[in-house]
Amino acid sequence: MSQQPQILLLNGPNLNLLGSREPSVYGTLTLAEIEARATQHAARRGALLRAFQSNHEGALVDAIHEARAWACGIVINAGAYTHTSIALRDAISGTGLPAVEVHLSNIHARESFRHHSYLAAVCIGQISGFGWRSYLLGIDALLGHLGLLTES
Ligand code: DQA
Repeated sequence: MSQQPQILLLNGPNLNLLGSREPSVYGTLTLAEIEARATQHAARRGALLRAFQSNHEGALVDAIHEARAWACGIVINAGAYTHTSIALRDAISGTGLPAVEVHLSNIHARESFRHHSYLAAVCIGQISGFGWRSYLLGIDALLGHLGLLTES
């Protein structure tokens, strides 16, 4: 592992449609634009961010497993898998990698089926409702947890 902290930014199903997907809920930035802002933000904090998106649960599980080899932690927006996936929860707890759960929308202010997260209990915490800035807050939360923010 290099000296520079490396973070996996993981995005789940339908987040590849950001920009055109329900912009009143998720905003108008594309996933590529959000990833670019997150990458810049991480770089300002001295960290390297690698982004991966998949619509497939198993591919997300694989990415979490592979991150053991190189990442100091994960920022994850699992999309709808947040509310359904014991496999993703087990991948996070099984690898032991610190993870921060992020959402663009405030899942607690939406339909009741979005209120429960299978991931929340195995994550450091959850950031929900700040649009694309949720990702930047998630990066800071992870780095702060790891003692890698300059003020920490
Ligand atoms: C989401 C919230 C989920 O409920 C939804 O299924 C998504 C996006 C968010 O970022 O607000 O796909 O994770």
